[in-house]
Amino acid sequence: MAQELGSIETNKKLFSDKRAKRYENRKLEYNFNTVPFEWHFLKALSSINDGLEVIDIGCGTGELIRKIAQQKQGQFLGVDLSQSMIKSAKDKSKDISNLSFDVMSSLDLKIKDKSFDVAIMRGSLHHFPDPLKSIKEAFRILKDKGELHILDILSYEEKEIDKIFNKTNVLRQPANHKFYAKSKLNKFCKNAGFKEIKIFEHKITMELEKWLKTYQNYDEVKSFFLNSSEKIKKAFNLRSDNAKYLLDFKSFYLIAKK
Ligand SMILES: C[S@@+](CC[C@H](N)C(=O)[O-])C[C@H]1O[C@@H](n2cnc3c(N)ncnc32)[C@H](O)[C@@H]1O
Repeated sequence: MAQELGSIETNKKLFSDKRAKRYENRKLEYNFNTVPFEWHFLKALSSINDGLEVIDIGCGTGELIRKIAQQKQGQFLGVDLSQSMIKSAKDKSKDISNLSFDVMSSLDLKIKDKSFDVAIMRGSLHHFPDPLKSIKEAFRILKDKGELHILDILSYEEKEIDKIFNKTNVLRQPANHKFYAKSKLNKFCKNAGFKEIKIFEHKITMELEKWLKTYQNYDEVKSFFLNSSEKIKKAFNLRSDNAKYLLDFKSFYLIAKK
């Protein structure tokens, strides 16, 4: 039977040993070629105070939460669906006493209500098969006035562009479930019960070929972009520069207050 895209089972399979190894070896600036680590990291450092209890949901090998734990006072926990990611995160964090890791699904966090001051989801929301349920879980485990910080790539308000952005991203990488536009992210957070929501944006310019080479269906996605209408090319600012194709996406840092 075909695997459902972005489902728990697909993600468990795809985020296994091979991917964890690749994450271990990657350089910080690499980060999926799309998620700008430096911007996210600096924004997280300036938005998260000392002395807090912080959880990173879908932490992967723990890159972000480890960096934060190394620079901030507080208690830090990283959770991820993948045992391989958590094993690697633990191996890389042996010397950090205020940081721990556990295997958990965003849909069913084995954590008591009102346990954390800050919950982070970085590059993980777009993999969750039920984003609203995952955001509601984050709301449940946050203390009163706690904050959810979502760091990811933004989709587009216009339906046609949103559809194309998601179609090509799922073709590239079947563990992707969906990327969301600002209005949808706001809706999820409001529905979950968050009161104040702020979204900061950051433009990322990418090399089409480099972006496509990281995963699969290279030819199909490349030809799709190159043969697309002027309207689509304009939406992604697709252009050629010194024999390279460049396109622009937007990354975001969302802060939702309980
Ligand atoms: C693109 S990686 C991002 C990892 C990390 N946050 C980072 O920024 O380096 C997405 C991670 O989400 C995890 N994941 C996918 N679905 C999940 C779920 N339902 N619950 C928890 N983690 C999940 C994957 O195992 C993977 O490690």
